[in-house]
Amino acid sequence: MSVIENSKLTVVGAGSVGASVAYAALIRGSARHVALYDIAEAKVEAEVLDLAHGTQFTGSSDITGGSDVSVAEGSHVVVITAGAKQNPGQTRTELAATNAGIIRRMMPELLEVAPHAIYVIVTNPCDVLTVLAQQATGLPTRRIFASGTVLDTSRLRWKIAQRAGVATSSVHAWIVGEHGDTEFPLWSTATIGSVPITEYDLPDGTRFDEAELDAIAVDVRDAAYKVIQGKGATNYAIGLSSARIVEAILRDEHAILPVSTVLEGFHGIDGMALSVPSVVSSRGAVPLSGTPFSDRELTLLRRSADALTTVADSLRD
Ligand code: 2OP
Repeated sequence: MSVIENSKLTVVGAGSVGASVAYAALIRGSARHVALYDIAEAKVEAEVLDLAHGTQFTGSSDITGGSDVSVAEGSHVVVITAGAKQNPGQTRTELAATNAGIIRRMMPELLEVAPHAIYVIVTNPCDVLTVLAQQATGLPTRRIFASGTVLDTSRLRWKIAQRAGVATSSVHAWIVGEHGDTEFPLWSTATIGSVPITEYDLPDGTRFDEAELDAIAVDVRDAAYKVIQGKGATNYAIGLSSARIVEAILRDEHAILPVSTVLEGFHGIDGMALSVPSVVSSRGAVPLSGTPFSDRELTLLRRSADALTTVADSLRD
């Protein structure tokens, strides 16, 4: 496989997340063609017009869209954002039943018009919905995965970078597991530049201790609640995270990103979608099997899998 020429991205759902994915993709030039699809006709047409009005300033990408699923025809990547969003105080898993129905209804019609696409699920709870969609469609696990903890990892790197006084891109640390309340950082392999995180000399002369790292992990885990409390939704950072995933696919980057695929024997976990560092290319996403986990991290990964299995089981008809 190789870089996809004349690439097409379809974003499903024209709410604040979908519109932000399209906006980020246009600005970053993630795909040559960006399409926005939503069954709410007036809303999607207005969002497409608003985005199109800015394309003088966005390079060579174009934007189309509408309320007919044919909008997605010929897509190389489909990013799904449609569904109910969290209300203040609500967890992602509380959206499972409502959004499972939406995903179940949508997947067959999307597959009919975009049979060769790679599907990225952003709708929450994204891990559980990925399992459901993968099982319902029978797509290979590499071709249908969730945005997972790409966003949470960016939140983590930003926080550490602020404290350490380095660029975010120089922090090598990962949030893995559920995109939600049981997620956790892989501290055992985290580095700032080439220095193990607990050995890094911070600008104030101290080093990270366990209490501070724990506080950072909690802060990252609860970050979305804070944003939702203040403005009703999160949209910009998930828009950028999703555009980044799309680029890794369309440019055949083999970039390592913590997306969430249905695991098949990863550290003994089978059949649940969880985020772990994964190689993302035009073939889709494949977990990086050599990723080391400490004993404690393995326990936490299994805890994430168990929590999500309970939610997934509650959705079986
Ligand atoms: C986020 O983490 C709510 O899942 C969304 O921003």
